[in-house]
Amino acid sequence: MKGWALVTGASSGIGRQLAIDLAKAGYASILLARRESALLELQKEISEKYQIHCLVLPLDLAAENSTETIVSFLKLHDVSVSVLINNAGFGDHSPFEEADIKKLTAMINLNCTKLVELTHAMIPLMPKGSYIMNVASLAGFMPGPLMTVYYATKAFVLSFSQAIHTELLPLKISSSALCPGPVHTEFGKVASTGGIGAFDTISAQNVEEVSALALKQMFKRRQVILTHPTHNAVVFLLRLVPRHIIGPIVYKAQSKRLAKKESDKSSGH
Ligand SMILES: NC(=O)c1ccc[n+]([C@@H]2O[C@H](COP(=O)([O-])OP(=O)(O)OC[C@H]3O[C@@H](n4cnc5c(N)ncnc54)[C@H](OP(=O)(O)O)[C@@H]3O)[C@@H](O)[C@H]2O)c1
Repeated sequence: MKGWALVTGASSGIGRQLAIDLAKAGYASILLARRESALLELQKEISEKYQIHCLVLPLDLAAENSTETIVSFLKLHDVSVSVLINNAGFGDHSPFEEADIKKLTAMINLNCTKLVELTHAMIPLMPKGSYIMNVASLAGFMPGPLMTVYYATKAFVLSFSQAIHTELLPLKISSSALCPGPVHTEFGKVASTGGIGAFDTISAQNVEEVSALALKQMFKRRQVILTHPTHNAVVFLLRLVPRHIIGPIVYKAQSKRLAKKESDKSSGH
């Protein structure tokens, strides 16, 4: 076994696949999320297929003392983590003034505050040569009307991740920001986007593709990981186009998705 990884949000989607691919690469994971049954199922699958014993940590990261609980868990099991994957997160698709403010602040707490808190607690415990991967998003490169707060949280994660990459150079710990576009997961259901069908699907990807690429690039210590060839062009264009023009373009795209969601709802889909 090469070492231990801590994967937040391992019960579904990108985090689940990352834990599987880390096992293929020889890493045992601490599988963290709220849904214990899904984590136990994944633990069994990884143990049967790859003969690697993962540990399950059912936990709500939003709980006040979640970071302390994680650190105590690692001490109790005498585990030293050399790969930290900050993946747990969610979004919300609605006009800002109509959104549930409790959901928005909970999103900022999980996507940003808890990610920072856990990273801060983990760095002193991680050996030289370790890896951190923060799951940001392509959304982090632009303002995102109608998913305003979600896009802003991902801009935060992207900026935070790149900044600590530089700060951590003397410790030989790298920090990579994973920036996928639309991926087929439970994200759309939680964010009420109307599902991936409502996305601009030109570059929609599956978790297998995203996870394999993400780990390959993380082990190369890339600061920013884009997951689709079209995203390189998008990020390049975003650097050229003034931000006040980007907002209305994203607004138009998100309005179409909201309209489609509403029409699907009224037709019973
Ligand atoms: N799918 C996309 O299109 C896309 C694109 C770009 C970036 N991303 C980012 O990718 C990351 C993973 O999302 P996904 O697409 O894989 O969606 P997902 O299938 O909904 O997975 C989200 C994971 O986060 C966990 N989670 C949510 N709230 C939690 C909490 N309070 N405490 C602990 N765990 C919690 C969920 O587990 P439990 O419900 O069991 O707690 C689940 O395992 C997110 O940060 C998301 O913003 C997604």
